[in-house]
Amino acid sequence: MTRISVFRKATFNAAHRLFNPKWSIEKNDEIFGYCARPNFHGHNYTLIVKLTGEIDPETGYLIDLKILKSLIYNEIEERFDHKNLNLDTEEFKHLNPTVENIAVVIYDILRAKLDAKYDLQIKLYETERNFVEYPV
Ligand code: NI
Repeated sequence: MTRISVFRKATFNAAHRLFNPKWSIEKNDEIFGYCARPNFHGHNYTLIVKLTGEIDPETGYLIDLKILKSLIYNEIEERFDHKNLNLDTEEFKHLNPTVENIAVVIYDILRAKLDAKYDLQIKLYETERNFVEYPV
């Protein structure tokens, strides 16, 4: 069987603050710097979703990209775009919204909605230069 990967890119804008409530203000400032400022700041996140699997001999597709596009839109963009991650989302009420944690949350949401026949990996860019990949 012929294995291949397809990619779909999406963007969302969101605000956050990096903060560990178990620490003092001073320690949060020391570890997170200006990312810990109390009034939040924003990022333009870029998400790249990678699916790997076998080409369906009947369609010639790995997956219909309309389906993947809708899934990412409905489950990720609608949930996080133009939100304050700390205040407006259930996922980050008690989880520090680092790019690492956001990537794991996004992966878990998409994984639960995708057929197990697909391998899933995501990249999440917080800035043009800073991004993570999950799972490794
Ligand atoms: Ni930030």
